[in-house]
Amino acid sequence: MADFRKEIENRRTFAIISHPDAGKTTITEKFLLYGGAIQEAGMVKGKKNSRHAVSDWMEIEKQRGISVTSSVLQFQYQGKCINILDTPGHQDFSEDTYRTLMAADSAVMVIDASKGVEAQTRKLFKVCAMRGVPIFTFINKMDREARDPYELLDEIETELGIGTYAVNWPIGSGKRFKGVYDRMDDQVIAFEGADFRHEVKAQRMSIDDPVLEGLLPEEQYQTLIDDIELLSGAGDDFDLEAVRAGKLSPVFFGSALTNFGVEPFLEKFLGMSTPPTAREADIGLVDPFDPHFSAFVFKIQANMNKAHRDRIAFMRICSGKFERGKDVWHVQGNRKMQLAQPQQLMAQDRSIVDEAYAGDIIGIFDPGVFSIGDTVCDPGMKCAYSGIPTFAPEIFARVRQKDTLKRKQFVKGVEQIAQEGAIQIFHEPNTGMEEVIVGVVGVLQFEVLEYRLKNEYNVEIIREGLPYSHIRWIENTDEEYDYKELRLTSDTKVVQDFRGNFLLLFTSPWNITWAQEHNEGLELSEFSENS
Ligand code: G4P
Repeated sequence: MADFRKEIENRRTFAIISHPDAGKTTITEKFLLYGGAIQEAGMVKGKKNSRHAVSDWMEIEKQRGISVTSSVLQFQYQGKCINILDTPGHQDFSEDTYRTLMAADSAVMVIDASKGVEAQTRKLFKVCAMRGVPIFTFINKMDREARDPYELLDEIETELGIGTYAVNWPIGSGKRFKGVYDRMDDQVIAFEGADFRHEVKAQRMSIDDPVLEGLLPEEQYQTLIDDIELLSGAGDDFDLEAVRAGKLSPVFFGSALTNFGVEPFLEKFLGMSTPPTAREADIGLVDPFDPHFSAFVFKIQANMNKAHRDRIAFMRICSGKFERGKDVWHVQGNRKMQLAQPQQLMAQDRSIVDEAYAGDIIGIFDPGVFSIGDTVCDPGMKCAYSGIPTFAPEIFARVRQKDTLKRKQFVKGVEQIAQEGAIQIFHEPNTGMEEVIVGVVGVLQFEVLEYRLKNEYNVEIIREGLPYSHIRWIENTDEEYDYKELRLTSDTKVVQDFRGNFLLLFTSPWNITWAQEHNEGLELSEFSENS
């Protein structure tokens, strides 16, 4: 029992988020190096086009150099078992990131020191803030000319509406970057030499160490002393409770490429972040230390590896311990089942897991029974975690197969990709799937659909853009619902989703108001909960 508690207490599960190019992959690689999970730098991310991140699975990712899918990496460091959830940086895949954040206990936000808060960071941040996820900020690329650190902190505070606490403070930037002052340990971590083409060696010393004065030009030394004074006078106190409530973000400065400040960041992060905490379910809060196993599906991915041609459901364990071959209850399927081939993933390397604990992510072979948001648990427990809301798509297209003989493959492909949550599909009421209306949040999702249908299902498609930009689920419907009675503008369309729910597609918000004004009692909702 003591071991069971200790295993969970040692778990840290976090998502790493950033605007593309801020350095997320580089940092992840350093983490893996410290944990001994990879042996050599460049295994995760090497030169553009020649190598690719271990967390990039799909061909399209390699070609475009973007991360489309979220992946999960596990490694051990200083007795802690760390699960990193990678997220796609591109905003067209925010929905995937959102689902991944539901599975994380905290988030690490990587910011480019010369750019500050960027569009994608802002969007992702909102999602974290909505859930009160603790956020740790790493301001990267200090070896390049950076913006003023006070200005960067101020931007995070005003743009993202969260307090900041600089855990360390940079001494210069670009060619003049000499190291950081660690405010908590009251020590300077300085470089030995400053050749930024290679990883740098660092040494710790106290602020009044004569060696430091030798290392820093007079004016930089004085600026540091002034900064330390200013920070201790003006800044907020460090408040761990506020950090854990997602109200205060500890900020670290460093340079992932030169490996400066990343390991101290990881160490402090592990100290400040929490093990898995209780999660909301229909039976109330479920304690991670509850001996009953429970988990929810946050991601489904098919054909991750072409050689396997399989479909994996990723589950976040919320309570108890998972053992291989265990019988579980699939709440939404209303049946008992055995979780087949439980796997833990190190990108393409898979290993079968014999046991896993609250906080861990396992990949389960999915014969097509799971949907995103589903709960599995001990048969004796029967709880259901709340569903993961679906983003309202904003771009729509009508899609059909080029070759009419390929209809079967087309339907299968489109349905499977939709089940994964990569797109949303609709059809006109009482019609089949010859033509499908696809809704997406970002236009790149269409490209992924096209690419995957061709490569995985051998189907080419014709895509025709539609003018709709707003979608609403009709709430108050039942089996007898007669959508033909609705009074709508001529450019409003009635469709159904794959669960049979009725929805309306609008070309403008004005039409939504019109529909509401002309149909008494019509209840429209912007979100659909998968439950
Ligand atoms: P991402 O996953 O957030 O998209 O970013 P990634 O780590 O791929 O980094 C984007 C680019 O920024 C890479 O350069 C990477 O080497 C560089 N980079 C990351 N951290 C630092 C840093 O601390 N300092 C500096 N100067 N650069 C950094 P690239 O040219 O796009 O790729 P590559 O050819 O180096 O692989």
